[in-house]
Amino acid sequence: MAGKVALVTGAARGMGRAHCVRLAAEGADVIAVDVAGPLPSVRYEHATPEDLDETVRLVEKEGRRVVAARLDVRISRRCAVRWTARCRSSAGSTS
Ligand SMILES: NC(=O)c1ccc[n+]([C@@H]2O[C@H](COP(=O)([O-])OP(=O)(O)OC[C@H]3O[C@@H](n4cnc5c(N)ncnc54)[C@H](O)[C@@H]3O)[C@@H](O)[C@H]2O)c1
Repeated sequence: MAGKVALVTGAARGMGRAHCVRLAAEGADVIAVDVAGPLPSVRYEHATPEDLDETVRLVEKEGRRVVAARLDVRISRRCAVRWTARCRSSAGSTS
């Protein structure tokens, strides 16, 4: 994964965080996205901005760069594409 940039959604905890850390350990820089707040359809405790901060800390511990953002992936495709392009221009190519 060296030289790659991985875009991970649901990155604040659980499988998303695990993917961020594993990809960083494999050499990728990471764009970590999570809503990090309440979701009406989720009945258990929601992820927090602090959870997303912890993902950032764990990726940096692997020696990789990370850009994190609170973002709801249900936003319009056009908005998501623009946001990803902005990250790509600052971080390199996204795989
Ligand atoms: N953990 C498992 O073993 C497992 C197994 C099979 C399937 N799954 C499924 O995989 C998914 C993730 O599992 P998990 O255990 O990591 O769950 P989790 O609840 O711990 O983490 C999900 C993360 O996604 C974020 N998220 C949810 N909706 C979002 C949105 N619209 N925009 C941005 N971020 C959003 C949440 O804030 C949360 O941080 C779930 O749908 C789960 O049902 C999990």
